[in-house]
Amino acid sequence: MKEPAISIRGLTKSYGSLKAVDNLTLEIKQGEFFGFLGPNGAGKTTTISIITGLARYGHGEVKVFGKDVTREYREARRLIGVAPQEFNFDLFFTVEETLKYYAGYFGLAGHEARKRIGEVLEQFGLLGKRNAEVRKLSGGMKRRLLIARALVHKPRLLILDEPTAGVDVELRRELWQHMKELNRSGTTILLTTHYIEEAEKLAKRIGIINHGKIVALDEKSRLIEQLHKINLDITLAKPIASIPPSLKKYHVTLLDDNRLRFVCGEHNSRGKILKAVQNAGLKVKSEEVSKSTLEDIFLDLTGGANGKR
Ligand SMILES: Nc1ncnc2c1ncn2[C@@H]1O[C@H](COP(=O)(O)OP(=O)(O)OP(=O)(O)O)[C@@H](O)[C@H]1O
Ligand SMILES: [Mg+2]
Repeated sequence: MKEPAISIRGLTKSYGSLKAVDNLTLEIKQGEFFGFLGPNGAGKTTTISIITGLARYGHGEVKVFGKDVTREYREARRLIGVAPQEFNFDLFFTVEETLKYYAGYFGLAGHEARKRIGEVLEQFGLLGKRNAEVRKLSGGMKRRLLIARALVHKPRLLILDEPTAGVDVELRRELWQHMKELNRSGTTILLTTHYIEEAEKLAKRIGIINHGKIVALDEKSRLIEQLHKINLDITLAKPIASIPPSLKKYHVTLLDDNRLRFVCGEHNSRGKILKAVQNAGLKVKSEEVSKSTLEDIFLDLTGGANGKR
């Protein structure tokens, strides 16, 4: 059996009395595209810093392709490319020097390094900027360079911490395309994002973290299904003052005086609901079905985002 790309067991990391990561266990298989979601301060970046060997941790075990990130740091680290959430460039290096430095760190030199640097510059549309100092790049160009740098040594695992934060629509789509292609060609990807749409479009499996703990972990489609609430909104031909008693056994709320919202499920099919509405003597003017999205699930599980600690 293949080693998992990432294997985390019982990981705990505290900052004083704050448990930034709280007994976290997570396995990501080779070739996966994994979406790591959670509100601000949930523990995503901390987990990533531990995987990449940047942060120490209290308890647990973290391995990358079977290599322990502490005991076998160098072996583990060279398998990972990481684009951190915050820019951490030497601003006075040129684009090319930045990539060369990284290539060198991972043992690439000479012709091989030049060739690879040319490739990533081309791939990320930075050829024209190869001699520009990083401080002179636009924000979007810095983002691209961050990812190009992460890829310079052809890592088997790519970790992207909010890669499209503050990026315009066009570049975002371009980066999505790159991520898809990389994953298709076998690179395992761990992506954190606050754009739920991004996770919905790219990731096959999703983990949601809150207060340092995994609160949901499943295939994206199943995660959506699991909490899948299909709302059936029925607009009535005439307003009503209250919900007829015969409909109360259904999961129903009165949205306006002429709109009822039912939550469909296994025992509440659309047909059954419509029939019950008619039997209650109400005339249906129109009906509309809406599915819950990953965003609904996210808010459900994390109780709405933003700084609860
Ligand atoms: N160096 C540090 N010293 C003290 N506390 C820290 C440090 N780094 C992170 N924390 C705390 O650990 C918790 C988790 O932070 P982390 O950066 O992992 O969150 P995150 O999920 O990446 O959030 P965001 O979506 O905002 O990037 C937060 O409460 C944060 O304040
Ligand atoms: Mg973060």
